[in-house]
Amino acid sequence: MAWKTLDDMDLNGKIVLTRVDINVPMADGRVTDATRIARIKPTIDDIIAKGGTPVMLAHFGRPKGQYVAEMSLSHILPAVKETLGRDVTFIEKPSREELDALPAGTVILVENTRFTNMETDNDPKMAQFLASLGDVFCNDAFSAAHRAHASTEGVAHLLPSCAGRLMQAELSALEAALTTPKRPVVAVVGGAKVSTKLDLLGNLVRKVDYLVIGGGMANTFLAAQGIDVGKSLCEHDLAETARDILKKADEAGCEIILPVDARVAWEFAANAKNEIVDVTAVPSDAMILDAGPASVDRVAEVFKSAKTLIWNGPLGAFEIEPFDTATNAAAQQAAAMTKAGDLISVAGGGDTVAALNKAGAGADFTYISTAGGAFLEWMEGKTLPGVAALG
Ligand code: 3PG
Ligand code: MG
Repeated sequence: MAWKTLDDMDLNGKIVLTRVDINVPMADGRVTDATRIARIKPTIDDIIAKGGTPVMLAHFGRPKGQYVAEMSLSHILPAVKETLGRDVTFIEKPSREELDALPAGTVILVENTRFTNMETDNDPKMAQFLASLGDVFCNDAFSAAHRAHASTEGVAHLLPSCAGRLMQAELSALEAALTTPKRPVVAVVGGAKVSTKLDLLGNLVRKVDYLVIGGGMANTFLAAQGIDVGKSLCEHDLAETARDILKKADEAGCEIILPVDARVAWEFAANAKNEIVDVTAVPSDAMILDAGPASVDRVAEVFKSAKTLIWNGPLGAFEIEPFDTATNAAAQQAAAMTKAGDLISVAGGGDTVAALNKAGAGADFTYISTAGGAFLEWMEGKTLPGVAALG
């Protein structure tokens, strides 16, 4: 690794600016999933153990440079205290004097960095201001590392910088899955649209041995091969692009696995009347909402031959039963193989993690990323500015 970790830094008596991603989902004023907060705990604990004072910088939502009351990090504060198991002091507008006056080991949370455009513009003045507040910069926000903002990128150039424990874990897991994987490697890519995952597919066909394509985007590939997908979600205008991806995969020796059968329905609703048909026999008035059992068997065979799995996107309309069947079966198999020590499995993306957890499989995966957009950009082979700035 080109970047330093907390092990390389002298933190004793130092103020450690710590970029975290606690952009967590909330409903009715309560945090509904504190995973992202729980995952920064090792970093905060280590900084304190090393005699440092962690000053957490974080964003919450997309306030577009304005103060937006609902996007104040004060709403998250109770969950942060509870999850970290520590008292946390919330500061709206920090100054160096104020931070210097705090007893060592105090944990600070600074108000939403995105309440000024200077953050998202990566304004050097903001980066300088942030740097003036601390002695060391620790980036533990892998899931925000695809943003070149003052608190994720700019400030890293101005202070001695290192990766936090979660950043380290994310990068190691992703490298093990795609950079230096045990082969064969299988990638599962699903979701609604090919158009949002073109770069991803283009990069993966060069890196993996098998690429399982599922969800709505599989329909685009089927249609591109002359199959009538009826009323299914399908980007017909991307037929040429889909054929190009199939060709590139072929040249690179990557086998693309598309559904051979499907569960079709006549309305998008839970427990809608449905049928299993061959993909060549989709009724013209029906839509594909999930992969069928023969497709699941094929995916199972591929999983069995693989040593590494990287997963982004569900195989069907997993939010509504029974169209979660293929996703559940594949997820449970990956989990069982991982548990048996036969597979390294890494997954990321909000929808994906929800789907794996719904299948009861998430806990047995080797690694579940906290990142959505950053996970995708990393899988696309892009350089993440927040990571690059640590180098
Ligand atoms: C996320 O939730 O994906 C990260 O916190 C990044 O948020 P953003 O997409 O608003 O930059
Ligand atoms: Mg996002």
